[in-house]
Amino acid sequence: MRNGVIPMLAGKRILLIIGGGIAAYKALELIRELRRAGASVVPVLTRAAEEFVTPLSASALAAEKVYRDLFDLTDEAEMGHIELSRDADLVVVAPATADLMGKMAAGLANDLASTVLMATDKRVLIAPAMNVRMWQHPATQRNLSTLTGDGVLTVGPDEGDMACGEYGPGRLATLPAIMAAIEAALSVPGPLSGRHVLVTSGPTHEPIDPVRYIANRSSGAQGTALAAALRDLGARVTFVTGPARVSPPSGVEVVAVETAREMADAVQQALPADAAIFAAAVADWHVKNAGAQKMKKAAGGMPALDFAENPDILAGVAGIKAGRPKLVVGFAAETENVVDHARAKLTRKGCDWIVANDVAPGTGIMGGTENAVHIVTAEGVEDWPRLSKDETARRLAARIADALAEN
Ligand code: CTP
Repeated sequence: MRNGVIPMLAGKRILLIIGGGIAAYKALELIRELRRAGASVVPVLTRAAEEFVTPLSASALAAEKVYRDLFDLTDEAEMGHIELSRDADLVVVAPATADLMGKMAAGLANDLASTVLMATDKRVLIAPAMNVRMWQHPATQRNLSTLTGDGVLTVGPDEGDMACGEYGPGRLATLPAIMAAIEAALSVPGPLSGRHVLVTSGPTHEPIDPVRYIANRSSGAQGTALAAALRDLGARVTFVTGPARVSPPSGVEVVAVETAREMADAVQQALPADAAIFAAAVADWHVKNAGAQKMKKAAGGMPALDFAENPDILAGVAGIKAGRPKLVVGFAAETENVVDHARAKLTRKGCDWIVANDVAPGTGIMGGTENAVHIVTAEGVEDWPRLSKDETARRLAARIADALAEN
């Protein structure tokens, strides 16, 4: 066994689903090994697993809350099963019983473990362990090939003496083998690995004087979610953000700017990129006569602001002659005639797609957690359903990966 931190595992979050079998106790040892290697472990126990190990031991070893049951309302309120599956870097099922494998292969979601497995968008590694006859049963072998076809990774089982007195394949793989499989699963490159993607996000602030500025209501939520989703697909992300309300994601290069002109400079610095996504709500104008000192109430008069146009960052990048990103995507937040305005913007700005949304006050989209977008391209318009901004981001990231793969 290797000692100490394993770079590929350091800082990674493993969702460990412990199935109900005699090998469940070995999952406790796995929690220790993963933590020694620098990973954090969130254990999920099936009801059957609780017959073999206690939630308290799993929680004590993981130093994390243990998740036990889908219908535990406290758990759902604290962290829903969707979040649970999405927050992890990898989902590991050890031991994977015949029952759990069957549920996974059939797409059942009738307890917390199976629901998390259905809801996850992360890689799943299973370490099967069961009686030799159960392992060799055609149903289990059929499930195994279904799961392999679905992209599920496996480690083991090993052959040997079994707790039930029989001999054959069915023993949980050894701890070093499971650790190596976890390391390998985390290092499989994503569809955007080796790609550089630039994302602008958030509002810009245009100063009036040293204490006042003109801004807009963008929270930066959609751009931030998109940067995280692109990172999750393996992209190197440069995230140029205005003063947003949400924090930037981890694992991306953050360039914080304030004004549109600073954003334009930061974008120039970040190029070249394979794709450039302009999710920022950029101010169209800046105050030309912004003062170096705080503006005072003039006796009797009103201040007059003199505006000058900001550079159109998106149009500038879309129009690059040599070295243009292969994919240039703009956003259009509109309050009426959403698709018509978006079509006009696609042409005017020379970009490849416009992601348009309706941000009229009644929609709750600006500053909210959901979005309903239309993807406008030269080929036509796709209307996406109302989804969380995270899910919208994941679908957009997958579409961006597909578009780059075609080029
Ligand atoms: N954009 C940009 N630089 C600007 C203005 C906009 O990069 N100076 C980008 C935004 O990030 C977004 C797209 O252009 O991706 C559309 O922004 P929007 O403000 O809707 O476009 P405008 O051209 O300003 O159109 P409108 O008249 O609707 O304000």
